Amino acid sequence: MKPIRKKKTKLANIKKIIDRQDEIVTGRISSLNLPKFKKYVICNLRGGIGKTTIAFNLSYLLNDVLVIDTCPQGNLSYFYDSQYFSNNRTTVKDLILPYILPGLGKPSRTAKKIGATNPFFQNKNAFYIPSTSELYLLPSQLSTAINQAKTLTGSQQEEALRNILYSLKYEIDRELEENNLQHVLIDTSPFFSGATHLSWHASDALIVPVRTDQQSINSLELLIDVLENPASEFRRNMPKDGVTPKIQLVILTHCTWSTRSGARNIPNQQTKVYLEKIRDIVSRNIQHFTTDDPDNHILLLDDFLGTGRISTALSKPVTLLQAGETMRINRVKTTVNQSVEKIKAQLQFIANSII
Ligand SMILES: Nc1ncnc2c1ncn2[C@@H]1O[C@H](COP(=O)(O)OP(=O)(O)OP(=O)(O)O)[C@@H](O)[C@H]1O
Ligand SMILES: [Mg+2]
Repeated sequence: MKPIRKKKTKLANIKKIIDRQDEIVTGRISSLNLPKFKKYVICNLRGGIGKTTIAFNLSYLLNDVLVIDTCPQGNLSYFYDSQYFSNNRTTVKDLILPYILPGLGKPSRTAKKIGATNPFFQNKNAFYIPSTSELYLLPSQLSTAINQAKTLTGSQQEEALRNILYSLKYEIDRELEENNLQHVLIDTSPFFSGATHLSWHASDALIVPVRTDQQSINSLELLIDVLENPASEFRRNMPKDGVTPKIQLVILTHCTWSTRSGARNIPNQQTKVYLEKIRDIVSRNIQHFTTDDPDNHILLLDDFLGTGRISTALSKPVTLLQAGETMRINRVKTTVNQSVEKIKAQLQFIANSII
């Protein structure tokens, strides 16, 4: 009897999240009732789970937005500018380094209008600060600077630490003001050391994509440990006035759905298993979330399939794609799936739930 009872309880736990899915897709609800923040960082300590894809698509759905690419791979920068890899320009590294290596000049007005290089953003008031592969060096530069600051004492140490750890925050605030922007999205690498660390200090809340696999569930637990553990890289270097950001949303990506006829918007077994695991983690750690109701913080995003491949190939937001559009990608005929309307509704719902 015991195992059956346990299973029933768990399914009841995720029922609200699953039922909401149908309401989202049919337009019966438009957003979660959550506190709203100005600056979000999209992060999880694992690659290939959808951080950049979500950052790119959300940036299209927000207005007056500043996007910062802090991932040395530069995938988001490439979405915004197909010439990214061959262009020399001011990058996020140029904003951070003067705080770490005193003597370097501070740049200003680094943000670029996305519409200048990505025509799909032409009519949007959206700006971005590009990344650079040189960010691969930032973790060691940052750790040297922090260790040096810690050789100082008293208020001198505090000031030096604040200068380093709030570098990105100060620069983002300056760019927001100079360009009169309202919202910030920061895309991150799969690693904490370096720019992700600075992004946490620069943001108000986290958006955490988790893919439907065990490794990304593990990374969610790891991320919560970095938020919570006093010995973590984040907590042990915290300035006295430092704030630990809370998690606004965990987004379960690559979700697949039941194909049973009549099963409208019901996740398949694999999606349900991961949803249950996430619901467990969120409720055990609810003090790290922006409200005290676990159901408020978990959303699902369909597997993008061909829609994602076409969106990436064209650097075109999913919102602008239509079901049935086709193109050849590496000689393979690829189609925008029928599920694109559902994905558009899910993305819009996420956007409405953060601003
Ligand atoms: N529901 C979904 N959400 C996000 N991405 C999806 C989803 N379904 C499929 N995808 C695909 O999964 C891939 C996610 O890659 P993406 O570059 O966004 O991951 P990432 O977390 O930024 O990786 P990295 O840490 O290497 O930068 C893309 O090819 C995207 O089209
Ligand atoms: Mg990425």
